[in-house]
Amino acid sequence: MNKFDSVGWSIWITVIALGGVVFCLYVLFSQLKGQPKKGETISETGHAWDGITEYDTPLPRWWVSMYLILSAIALAYMFLYPTLGSYNGLLNTNQAKEVLLAQEEIEARVQPVFQTYADMPFAEIANDEEARAIGQRLFLNNCAQCHGSDAQGSPSFPNLTDKSWLWGGEPEQILHTITEGRRGIMPAHNAMMTPAQASEIAQYVRSLNNLAHDQTRVVPGKKLYDQFCVACHGAEAKGNQMLGAPDLTDNNWLYGSSEDSIVYGIMNGRDNQMPPQKDHLSPEQIRVLAGWVWGLSNAKQ
Ligand code: HEC
Ligand code: HEC
Repeated sequence: MNKFDSVGWSIWITVIALGGVVFCLYVLFSQLKGQPKKGETISETGHAWDGITEYDTPLPRWWVSMYLILSAIALAYMFLYPTLGSYNGLLNTNQAKEVLLAQEEIEARVQPVFQTYADMPFAEIANDEEARAIGQRLFLNNCAQCHGSDAQGSPSFPNLTDKSWLWGGEPEQILHTITEGRRGIMPAHNAMMTPAQASEIAQYVRSLNNLAHDQTRVVPGKKLYDQFCVACHGAEAKGNQMLGAPDLTDNNWLYGSSEDSIVYGIMNGRDNQMPPQKDHLSPEQIRVLAGWVWGLSNAKQ
């Protein structure tokens, strides 16, 4: 790190770094003074314990030499490499520049690989062994933390391996989802209905999926559904991919099928976000990913 916002910090770091070495040398030489020369009788410190007496002998010469050599190496390092504040060192190395150069080099090596997929149809990407390996690696690095390493999702994170899609399962739709991100918003209905009414709607929704339900409450539930929910989920409750409103008849659940979960969603709403990836993945990478995700439910193999 040799980038500082102000000259003050640069001087501060330089003083501490050089001062550290100077201080160590000062301590060393202060200890060399007043010690008996060779041939002089060795004096005692006056400390004795259990018949063992502590002598006041000179510091061993090998130790003093090692100390001096290490200090010299430290000083040499500081002047060769960027250690002293914003000084780049005699070798003029610049780590930030090196990282950039290395990144450009990798980019240049990787770009042609991705270029081959830029015009490849999605169906081919999904069935191309190399493309699939790249897609999976990209997925594990960028998506698995939310969608799971097997892409099967978890509550609130959609499963990407089935044919049930919030925003559409055509390759172009998936590409759009990954590039721009998505936000699924279902408004809260707690100001418009009672929990008992929400529970009636839940009976109706569960009945659409052949899940256990109270038959007597399905009809009033459907009435309320037609009043509050059709606009987004549709008259047939098949959902609307323009809004990311899920199909409520495919027994495939983002939040769970229990009455409690459905009632909670109706009363409190849902707000769920898939972050856009265009800022940190290239269009070619996203294309390979989209082909790979599409392939999870469509590939031949
Ligand atoms: C921070 C968590 C997070 C990350 C990271 C993330 N996603 Fe998502 N993704 C979500 C959520 C949440 C949704 C559901 C959005 C909604 O409810 O409308 C979603 C939705 C999707 C969908 C739409 C599913 C459907 O049914 O229409 C796809 C496709 C998708 N993600 C792919 C990816 C890929 C590929 C990556 C990696 C580049 C990725 N996601 C990274 C959270 C994430
Ligand atoms: C303004 C549009 C809108 C309205 C009105 C609306 N919903 Fe939703 N609903 C959504 C969206 C969008 C999602 C997906 C939320 C997400 O991505 O997390 C959703 C999710 C759900 C889910 C979760 C499904 C799952 O897979 O877990 C249920 C159940 C649901 N809605 C039922 C209802 C019912 C019942 C009503 C009527 C009381 C209703 N919705 C009204 C848009 C709407």
